[in-house]
Formats: sequence, C-alpha cells, structure tokens
Amino acid sequence: MKGIVLAGGSGTRLRPLTKVVNKQLLPVYDKPLVYYPIETLLSGGIRDILIISGPEHSGDLLNQLGSGKDFGARFTYDIQEKPEGLAQALGMAEDFSDGEPVTMILGDNIYTADIGPALRNFSPPGAKVFLKEVPDPERFGVPVLNGDRITNIIEKPKKPPSNYCVTGLYMYDHDVFDIIRTLKPSARGEYEITDVNNVYIERGQLRYEVVPGEWIDAGTFDSLLRASTVIAQLRQKS
Ligand code: DAU
Repeated sequence: MKGIVLAGGSGTRLRPLTKVVNKQLLPVYDKPLVYYPIETLLSGGIRDILIISGPEHSGDLLNQLGSGKDFGARFTYDIQEKPEGLAQALGMAEDFSDGEPVTMILGDNIYTADIGPALRNFSPPGAKVFLKEVPDPERFGVPVLNGDRITNIIEKPKKPPSNYCVTGLYMYDHDVFDIIRTLKPSARGEYEITDVNNVYIERGQLRYEVVPGEWIDAGTFDSLLRASTVIAQLRQKS
C-alpha cells in the first residue's frame, strides 16, 4: 500500500493566513496541520508516501518534512502545476504507486481516533471511503445511503440526501488510474474524486466505514480554530 498526501490547492478560504504560507503548514496546536494526516497514514502502516503540492509552496513543505526519516517513513514529492481537482492530483501518483493499491488523504483533514486498523483491513479489488455524520453536509461530498450500501455520492448538494459526508481519506485498487483517465471536468472545472467514487459504486465495489472520534476538515477559520482546541483537549487527557 502506497500513501498520498494532497497538500496543494490555493487555500483561498483562509486568506490572509495563506498568502505566503501553505495551508497545510499552518499550526494546529503544537504541530503543522499536515503532520496529522501523515500520522493517520503511518498508523495504518503506510510508510511510502507521495506529497503533492502546488509550485508556490513545495520548497517549504520539503524543508518542513524532509526525507521522512524523522517520521520513520520515506517521502517523495511532486508538483501539481494547477489545482484542477483531487482526482487529477491522484492521477499524478500512477508511476509512484507501481501497481500497488493507494490510500489518499487530504492535507487539511484531521482524524482523532485510531483508524489504523480500518486502513490495514482494506484489500483489493475495489475502493473504500470513510463517512462522518456532520451538521453541514452541503459543504462536502454526500452519500445516498440505502441500508448498508452507498448508492450515489453528490458533491456539495444544495439539498443533502443524508447527514453524512465523505471525508478526505480514500483507498483504491490500481484500477483507479484507468478510471481517472475517463473523467471530464465538473461544472466547477475540477476533476472530482466524487466522480471516481461513483464509478466504484456502479461496479458494486465501494465499501465504507463510519469514522469514530472527531473528524475535522480544517479549511476554514472556524474549523482550524476548532482543530487546535480539540487536539489541546486530547493532549491534556493523555
Ligand atoms: O474534506 C472532505 C471533502 O474534500 C470531500 O467531502 C469532498 O467530496 C471533496 O471534493 C473535498 O472537498 P473540498 O472542497 O473540501 O476540497 P478542497 O478543494 O478544499 O481540497 C482539499 C485539499 O486538497 C486541500 O488541502 C487542498 C488539496 N488540493 C485541492 C485541489 C482542488 C490539492 O492538493 N489539489 C487540488 O487540485
């Protein structure tokens, strides 16, 4: 299993914090934000990790994270010239993945529970996503649930079909790269990871788990602040 951390994007929702600093390098309590998704991959035994960012901040990420030795891992870096979507960024990892399945995590997503076991129990063929019940599903990809199956995922729906969202952690077999080649850009001009997941649904090959603990997409001022508060409280308890 290979890991991919997406640390690009323009971070416009966090300006002026992100004018010169990559969103993923902003502090969350005592560490840069991107450390948390990296630690999530490590908890699943994933140690060969590709870090993808935009051209503006790739040097900063390299200076901060280095070779991966400090994490007991091996980091490789690549540059996404333009932020044209999560699926486009994932497509860049085809050579890196070298025929193995891949786990992709968004660089601004924090999971507080140990989901290592849920990562370790994935086996191809197919794909797996991680859901969380949220008060504001319209901000995310939202699954249509029928019993224990997801029958569709809608990206940022005006009228959410459930109170769950698809969080920023995705596991795929190697077919994902062929699927990405068939995609067309969405109305917002991006190659959507939701379109990839809907192909796995059509094939009857999308599994899911509901994430325990807290899940935070730290991409807004309020959620970034909440992330620091939640982590500080967990540290005090431990
Ligand atoms: O956080 C979970 C949500 O992430 C999912 O529920 C949605 O289905 C999924 O589309 C995504 O939505 P966002 O609107 O939150 O994605 P955002 O554009 O904020 O990008 C998420 C991270 O990925 C962010 O840290 C920047 C990075 N990124 C984004 C894009 C579009 C890249 O590295 N390259 C890109 O091209």
